[in-house]
Amino acid sequence: PPPTEFARRLLAWFEHHGRHDLPWQNPRSGYRVWVSEIMLQQTQVATVVPYFRAFMARFPTVADLAAADSDAVMQHWAGLGYYARARNLHAAARQVVAEHGGELPADPAALQALPGIGRSTAGAIAAQAFGRRAAMLDGNAKRVLARLHAERGAPGESAWEKRLWAHAEHHTPHDRLADYTQAIMDLGATVCGRGQPACDRCPVTDLCAARSAGIEAEIPAPRKR
Ligand code: ADE
Repeated sequence: PPPTEFARRLLAWFEHHGRHDLPWQNPRSGYRVWVSEIMLQQTQVATVVPYFRAFMARFPTVADLAAADSDAVMQHWAGLGYYARARNLHAAARQVVAEHGGELPADPAALQALPGIGRSTAGAIAAQAFGRRAAMLDGNAKRVLARLHAERGAPGESAWEKRLWAHAEHHTPHDRLADYTQAIMDLGATVCGRGQPACDRCPVTDLCAARSAGIEAEIPAPRKR
């Protein structure tokens, strides 16, 4: 099936405006993409890059990470915060060695069975590292798709989350999965930001339901809790 008009425009935009030089993009491997996605869960790209390089220098493979003691792993995480991420990553590395012969699985369901990997992270890894058709819905993608489809409602509301996952599935193309996944995060981070987005630089303004209704700054609503 052909890509949606949104996916087609986003991919064209990505050629010139997306990020192509992130350290986990080259060389790309399941392990490198996985570690980057865990680091990026609560931390910005600029902060993550030097930690990622040091981590890869010290733990170049899943087996090296699995064999390390927790103190060494924690030392390399110090400064990134949210230390449960490092504990889960370490436990997951041991599980990958024990259950998958040291190779990160490509299947999103198998990825989601590992500690620290939820539905969105599983999709991000499967798409970016293995070119699998898997939807990803992080905070950036949620904002982009909520505006595109004028989904009022708030993060944390289950009906809203469910509709956004359906939009994410719908727009995920059958080709160029790694580029598409990076592109939607890049659009959300650099153009379709929180507050007032930079619609003058957006490749899909004319498709955007929030923009037509003039409500782009009100979407998404503050998180309900
Ligand atoms: N946040 C999570 N994954 C990311 C990625 N690959 N690039 C930029 N921000 C991200």
